[in-house]
Amino acid sequence: AVEISELVASKVVDVPDFPKPGILFKDLMPLFADGPAFAAVIDAIITEHGADSFDVVAGIEARGFVIAAAVAYATGKGVVPVRKAGKLPRPTVSASYALEYGEAVLEVHEDAFVAGERVLVVDDVLATGGTAAATLGLVERAGGRVSGFSVLLELGFLGGRERVAPRPVHALLTVS
Ligand code: PRP
Ligand code: MG
Repeated sequence: AVEISELVASKVVDVPDFPKPGILFKDLMPLFADGPAFAAVIDAIITEHGADSFDVVAGIEARGFVIAAAVAYATGKGVVPVRKAGKLPRPTVSASYALEYGEAVLEVHEDAFVAGERVLVVDDVLATGGTAAATLGLVERAGGRVSGFSVLLELGFLGGRERVAPRPVHALLTVS
């Protein structure tokens, strides 16, 4: 059996100078587009945490939505979208964060979680960790309890794991 880390590695396409000069973009669309590979990474996330360890799955706009929906459907849970600013229609909690390439704001509905609900947070890539740190804080401010955080790919050299600490990060593949 191919190691899950090797599977992810085989499906990442490096795109130089996107979206800005000097940024090496990690494109995971080929992984999403491959049915057996996509199923394998979703199953690996569920196996890591255990389906009984969370009540709902939070996905980070936009690429995290793909993963969150699949994990939620496979485990019979619901999805809470964490969205970029201005997309949610009702009162929100929000957090601004610095991205590897820019500044942004993430929001979640203030009533998105039942108090104490266990939330598995998923995204495609952990880079600087700004997105993840903002999201984990948002989940808690909205009343959820972060039970786990998974990404498909961690760019270890950017130090995202330290920004998310002391929370653990589960990554299917870490590249340095
Ligand atoms: C990318 C990626 C992660 C985030 C990681 O999303 O999908 O969510 O950056 O970067 P960080 O760890 O440095 O915060 P992006 O904001 O480009 O948007 P998208 O998912 O909507 O494509
Ligand atoms: Mg993203």
